[in-house]
Amino acid sequence: MERRKFLSVTASGVTVAAAGVCWGGTWGVPQAMAGAPYALTTGVGTANLTGNTPTKNCWLYNGSCPGPMLRYRKGDRLSVNVTNNLATATTVHWHGIRSSNAMDGVADLTQAPIQPGEQFSYDLPLPHSGTYWYHAHNMGWEQVARGLYGPLIIDDDDDPTVDHDITLMIDDWRLDQDGQIDTASFGSLHDWSHGGRLGNWLTVNGLSDPKFFVKAGARLRLRLISAANARVFAIKINADAATLIAQDGAVCRPEKVDVISLAPAQRADVIIDLDGDSLALTDVSTGTPYPAGSFIVEPSLGRSTLKKSAIALAKPQKMPDLKTARTIPVHMQGGAMGTLAEARLDGEILPLRTLAQDHKKLWAFNGVVGTYSETLAEVPLGQLVALEVFNDTAWPHAMHLHGHHFWVTLDDPTATAPSGQRDTWLMPAGSKAKLVFRADNPGLWLFHCHMLEHAASGMSMVIAVG
Ligand code: C2O
Ligand code: CU
Repeated sequence: MERRKFLSVTASGVTVAAAGVCWGGTWGVPQAMAGAPYALTTGVGTANLTGNTPTKNCWLYNGSCPGPMLRYRKGDRLSVNVTNNLATATTVHWHGIRSSNAMDGVADLTQAPIQPGEQFSYDLPLPHSGTYWYHAHNMGWEQVARGLYGPLIIDDDDDPTVDHDITLMIDDWRLDQDGQIDTASFGSLHDWSHGGRLGNWLTVNGLSDPKFFVKAGARLRLRLISAANARVFAIKINADAATLIAQDGAVCRPEKVDVISLAPAQRADVIIDLDGDSLALTDVSTGTPYPAGSFIVEPSLGRSTLKKSAIALAKPQKMPDLKTARTIPVHMQGGAMGTLAEARLDGEILPLRTLAQDHKKLWAFNGVVGTYSETLAEVPLGQLVALEVFNDTAWPHAMHLHGHHFWVTLDDPTATAPSGQRDTWLMPAGSKAKLVFRADNPGLWLFHCHMLEHAASGMSMVIAVG
């Protein structure tokens, strides 16, 4: 793989915080922020992605990438006033949050984009706890790739007690020789028809291979969030005792993990009991291990006094009986080396070549190029729905449903379905899955691939609920 080899900039292991301080506790606002509205401003700025040459022309929330940590408690309201200081329109989407459709932040579907110089106030309840994130949802393939994302963490009284609760937002940037964002390839038809915009530079919390200082014998909770446009990370944890406790914000059956697959927009929460002096994470998705942060015991922090008892967690919600479910087939086609010959775009059947060359559309659901003007389905409020998805393309896709979490059942008996609910599910090429959800949230909800180039070129459709 060409990945990362060509960069001339070198990563100097960045020391994130002075000894004695764990960055996880100092980043953003550590305690719940309910109360007065929080001001979030978009703007152009510089980020220290490589530890060497600053990367210019990043698009940032409050001047940093990731943006500030928005941290609440379950049951709080999120209240954020967004001011757009970019030269282009934007919106903010609260990924994985299941509440108000009007506040979902999908440009041209749930709101008009926030124009340069304008403001928009988001205000929504937060009925669920867990690890979420926020990101731009207007031309996300460029806006997210330039840095418009941040963590959204919702604490719960039932959260397991840990020594350090550390959020790690992992991103995959495409930088040029000088460590600058490769802007020439934005909108590349090749990326859009293949695996999306794959990068060559990995950051964790906007830094290259950051170090975190922790107590000896600490119990850590790591909240992994993928902000990548398209790459599917495989994060290897070199610890004996790593337990996966939640995915996409929802509890799962606790299980030991070694390598965590993290598709775009997915999250994984892991509890780790540290037994040595350090712990390193590496991304092994390309076959060449790439450092993705480490945790180093800092003696001045002392030793953990926590009892390392078994982690008590709520049980994942069981999938209801499918007898009453309405089945909606979703035949996904298109892209390079695919089976799509023609598809309907805004009422007109066009051959794939015309769709690609004249409209930059490359993918279809059920023979329809996804736009916001056509719904995939209309379902009554309360209906149990089974999206019967067939990835009939040569590429994996990370399918995300707005406003709901879903259960996953798989056709392939050798594949493992998640034990809890998800909001983003990676479908390998050729695979089939049922994504089952209770349509209990009224509004126009997007169902799309979170490989953002695919979403822009046809893999986005609306499910109308209620
Ligand atoms: Cu993470 Cu449609 O969004
Ligand atoms: Cu896709």
